Amino acid sequence: MSVVGARPNFMKIAPIAKAIKKQKGIKHIIVHTGQHYDEKMSDSFFRQLGIPKPNINLEVGSGTHAIQTAEIMKRFEPVCEEHMPDVVLVVGDVNSTLACTIVAKKLWIPAVHVEAGLRSFDRHMPEEINRIVTDCLCDVFFTTSPEAITYLQNEGTPKNRIFYVGNVMVDTLMGNVEKAKRSKIAKILNVKKGEYALVTLHRPSNVDIQESLINLVKALMDIQNKIKVVFPVHPRTIKNIKRYINREELASMHNVMFLDPLGYIDFLNLTMNAKFVLTDSGGIQEETTVLGVPCLTARENTERPITITEGTNVLVGTKTQRIISETNKILRGKFKKGKQPKYWDGKASERIVAILMRLYKQGKLERCA
Ligand code: UD1
Repeated sequence: MSVVGARPNFMKIAPIAKAIKKQKGIKHIIVHTGQHYDEKMSDSFFRQLGIPKPNINLEVGSGTHAIQTAEIMKRFEPVCEEHMPDVVLVVGDVNSTLACTIVAKKLWIPAVHVEAGLRSFDRHMPEEINRIVTDCLCDVFFTTSPEAITYLQNEGTPKNRIFYVGNVMVDTLMGNVEKAKRSKIAKILNVKKGEYALVTLHRPSNVDIQESLINLVKALMDIQNKIKVVFPVHPRTIKNIKRYINREELASMHNVMFLDPLGYIDFLNLTMNAKFVLTDSGGIQEETTVLGVPCLTARENTERPITITEGTNVLVGTKTQRIISETNKILRGKFKKGKQPKYWDGKASERIVAILMRLYKQGKLERCA
């Protein structure tokens, strides 16, 4: 039984579902918690990435962290009791990941975490709490980078339960690059390769706090004087922009295109062809590394340091001047070249399914009944 809930989960589960389907004899149940529910935040990803329709939708919707997590737990428990899966597989670090891991483990069901061992060491981030608790409870750990193995072992995870398999997001990216090249989005927006910046912002620490949001918008005001800016806006962010940012200021940003959230294929097309990306997302730091596109991450830390040490990512924080000066470097043609991390090769999902089958056959995924 696999669990998905929020937008970044969908591109992770798509290749795993495909790899499971190839392996005959596994019954795969997909549970969507309904943490994200808008067409543009959820359904479009299922369609575009060919993810099988979820067998069960818990339809939890939005809420505070406690309410959302509790509601997922309440609704996931009877589903587990009814189906009693051999394994519950969770991905990423969203509230759905945490909630379903707790439920599975209290029912003694083996739990598997894909993208385990990421640590920002910043407990102000809700995702960091989700990562720590999920990894503390799970039985099998699939990592995207060597440092994740070290972090897990430092926390006492047995070595023989950790597998460095690569990155399932990259499986999805590689499987969709050709389709993305054919997207018409650049034509629709009237932007050309290398002549625009792509921006996404949604971290609570950036967009829920007025001062941080104002700093970021000020940086955008400067950037848009030098290059077109394409900004697909997350629902959380648009609410706060309307609340905190002066209308005249917004209206004066003629060179910024504020868009609704985009589908996977169009977004990938825009990422591939951007001069650079300014973001606070986790996954986009990885995608730009794979594509060799400069990435400025508007955060003070990252749980994905491999995108800095090996990839194209630079942490620029959230101070206006720093963001502007790093942007200027890129516009002057100064930016480091990255390389592809090991195993980010499009085959992570196949490795995951092969390892799970082996563990299962060896009796190492037993319910601890
Ligand atoms: C969640 C994840 C975050 C991930 C992000 C990607 C957690 C703690 N956070 O944050 O790690 O990077 O998803 O988007 O799990 N909303 C809609 N439509 C939707 C979903 C949400 O309008 O389909 C609005 C609601 O007003 C909601 C707000 O967006 O209150 C935030 O949604 P929520 O799921 O709480 O967290 P995200 O900020 O999306």
